[in-house]
Amino acid sequence: MARSRLPLDELPQNEAVALADGHAVVVRTDDGVRAFVNRCLHQDLPLTGAHVADGVLICPHHFWRYELPEGRLCSEAESAACLTAVDVEIDDGDVVVDLPWPPTPEPGSLREHLLARAETWNRDDPPEPHHPGARHG
Ligand code: FES
Repeated sequence: MARSRLPLDELPQNEAVALADGHAVVVRTDDGVRAFVNRCLHQDLPLTGAHVADGVLICPHHFWRYELPEGRLCSEAESAACLTAVDVEIDDGDVVVDLPWPPTPEPGSLREHLLARAETWNRDDPPEPHHPGARHG
């Protein structure tokens, strides 16, 4: 298990901040602090810098939306996927994140990452369409 800390005072409100060498993001809202694996479900890009508006975390890349606190993809589908939550607690004024696995090194370059994704892309079976204004529930 990998543990990472950040003073709560340094955590901005309503913005996803990377922790644990970029493997997790922490989000502080009026309702508390949540942490997730730092990967958007759309194209597996980092959620670092995502903003929260009206209880919804918005990916900075293509604006997929995730309802907090669960991190559920905003979708009309009842089985909408969720971001992977990571254990987080406040300890002595610090936000503490526990990753359940040892962080693995990032794959190579962006080019290698995109090529790997392209190899598994199926044009006839695209991901579920995204409805930016839709809310789950
Ligand atoms: S990578 Fe997050 S919306 Fe595309």
